[in-house]
Amino acid sequence: MNIANEILQANILIIDDEPANVKLLKKLLERQGYQNVSGTSDPRDVESLCAATEFDAFLLDIRMPYLDGYGIMTLLKDKFVNDYMPVLVLTAQTDRETRLKALKYGAKDFLTKPFDQLEALTRIHNLLEVRLMHKHIRDQNIILEEQVQQRTQELYDTRHEVIARLGMAAEYRDNETGNHIIRMSKYAKLLALEIGLGEGHADIILNAAPMHDIGKIGIPDSVLLKPGKLDAEEWQIMRSHVDIGAKILSGHDSELMQAACLIALHHHEKWNGSGYPAGLKGEQISIEGRICAVADVFDALLSVRPYKKPWTVEQALSLIEAEAGQHFDPNIAPLMRKLLPAAMEIMQQYPDDPITS
Ligand SMILES: [Fe+2]
Ligand SMILES: [Fe+2]
Repeated sequence: MNIANEILQANILIIDDEPANVKLLKKLLERQGYQNVSGTSDPRDVESLCAATEFDAFLLDIRMPYLDGYGIMTLLKDKFVNDYMPVLVLTAQTDRETRLKALKYGAKDFLTKPFDQLEALTRIHNLLEVRLMHKHIRDQNIILEEQVQQRTQELYDTRHEVIARLGMAAEYRDNETGNHIIRMSKYAKLLALEIGLGEGHADIILNAAPMHDIGKIGIPDSVLLKPGKLDAEEWQIMRSHVDIGAKILSGHDSELMQAACLIALHHHEKWNGSGYPAGLKGEQISIEGRICAVADVFDALLSVRPYKKPWTVEQALSLIEAEAGQHFDPNIAPLMRKLLPAAMEIMQQYPDDPITS
């Protein structure tokens, strides 16, 4: 629709306590081709009229009973916060004081009664032109804002999807199932929330945890898939998956990648300092690493692996609790039992589903 048509279809409200004035102006506008002109001679109606229609111009008398033009403009200001308030004041008063006061209350233009018809039409047209431009810009901004949000969400989703699948790729190499990393990441989020980290931080852990074993990509099959026990040298190679993982994930300054890097590096550290690769102790180990250690072991204990049967939930919880202050952060380990109902739901939703049998 072009702007000239849009102007003729704009919603106009005439407010004048003298019905004859409302009628006259309405007729003038309609004769000019305006299609949506309403009017009222009772200023108390303005509120309900505005609730029903978004007006693009208010042609407003100043002196009125019950609620004068200033009162109406005060009321309209609340409806036009951060928006162009299209008010044209119709007044018989030509004094400076009235004009200044009207401007102060937000009037954009004036018409002195009795008005010249051509002048009235031109001023109303101009007011509408400005109002509609503002509306276009406002609507355009809303559309752009929505598009930006949508694109941001898509980027966020894609990034997390890629990350999760990368984690799964590493997991498939030795576990034949990708659901371990989904479960352990979800347990990690539960633990993070339970320990009071807040939704944002917990979400970062949820999305970073799938990469904890990404470094296994760099471990040769002869070690990773060896059915029997690993000798000392092979263990050394196996343990290097944490450094390889950290190397793959390092060097990016997003919170997510930094958390992922810490988790890859710290998930085999132990609270008592007996873990690897650095033998960090207590809170030297990142909170992300301490949380993921519990989540990872809990899920591994419950899973079938080529070298072991699944433990019962009670056995797994007992071990986690027995290792509080040894392997695990003593503040985190006991939380797993409390979170068991939620954890059971996750187990049911993401069961082990080997891709080969
Ligand atoms: Fe690992
Ligand atoms: Fe794991």
